[in-house]
Amino acid sequence: ITVTVIDREGNRTEGVDWKSHESLMEALTRHKYPILATCGGNASCSTCHSYLDPASFAKSGEIGDEEEDLLDMLDDTRHETSRLSCQVEWAEDLDGAEVTIAPEW
Ligand code: FES
Repeated sequence: ITVTVIDREGNRTEGVDWKSHESLMEALTRHKYPILATCGGNASCSTCHSYLDPASFAKSGEIGDEEEDLLDMLDDTRHETSRLSCQVEWAEDLDGAEVTIAPEW
């Protein structure tokens, strides 16, 4: 599937491919977006914080307890459609999603 990515400078790129074995974070880092992913995708660093468009957010699966706790600590930058991208699994339904990389904290 492909997604549209908006980076921290506001540059918008369509057609960014996301392979089925990757989390969203893995797809973004493979495309060299500046996501540190210090924890390696374990929902414990929050450097992979991103926003989804509302329709895709609704299809992006449940937010687990660890993710919820971490997002909670981001009060300034957390939006309604915030996700830790390492916790967003590939799904056919997310084709065409718009992903905005959240500011560095
Ligand atoms: Fe650390 Fe997602 S990579 S929370």
